[in-house]
Amino acid sequence: MPGAAPSRSDCLPPGPIVFVKRPEMQRTLILLKPDCFQRRLVGEIIARFERKGLNIVAMKLIQITPELSAKHYAEHAEKPFYPSLEEFITSAPVVALALEGLEAISVVREMLGATNGLKAAPGTIRGDFSSSRQMNLVHASDSPESAERELALYFGETEFCDSEQELARFMRAADE
Ligand code: CMP
Repeated sequence: MPGAAPSRSDCLPPGPIVFVKRPEMQRTLILLKPDCFQRRLVGEIIARFERKGLNIVAMKLIQITPELSAKHYAEHAEKPFYPSLEEFITSAPVVALALEGLEAISVVREMLGATNGLKAAPGTIRGDFSSSRQMNLVHASDSPESAERELALYFGETEFCDSEQELARFMRAADE
């Protein structure tokens, strides 16, 4: 019938319907480690996260104790490098941050680069600033499960702030 509204099937392309997985809004735990603090790279590295469009939703400067180190690095506690890692991570203050963004966990890990600064690609944070496996400047959660566990080690529920920012509408489309 002329002028009739198209039916739903008229609007769909031919072929099977493909469901696209929407990117997920995530929070991730970041530690700017003692080498980052001592080398005065804190501002430089936070600036990279901000410019990427990630939102800081919690942040504090703390001195990690051996007890907190053992909890944070529980999966490495039996590794030969753990005593040295504990000595390093407790040696000076760290900045703990919670970052929020679409697929923030993998986005931040990509921004950091490989664990060993010598192997990290140029352009990544470690690739640009680190030449060490231990002193690799930044820790970031490696999975949603780790992020949940690690965020709870450093922040209470009431320490997270609303992340809605005026510039958000220039960072991504409303349906992304
Ligand atoms: P991070 O991402 O915080 O997770 C574990 C940390 O242990 C890692 O960064 C490094 O700082 C450190 N690390 C990993 N592998 C080694 C290693 N072989 N020797 C010394 N330190 C290591």
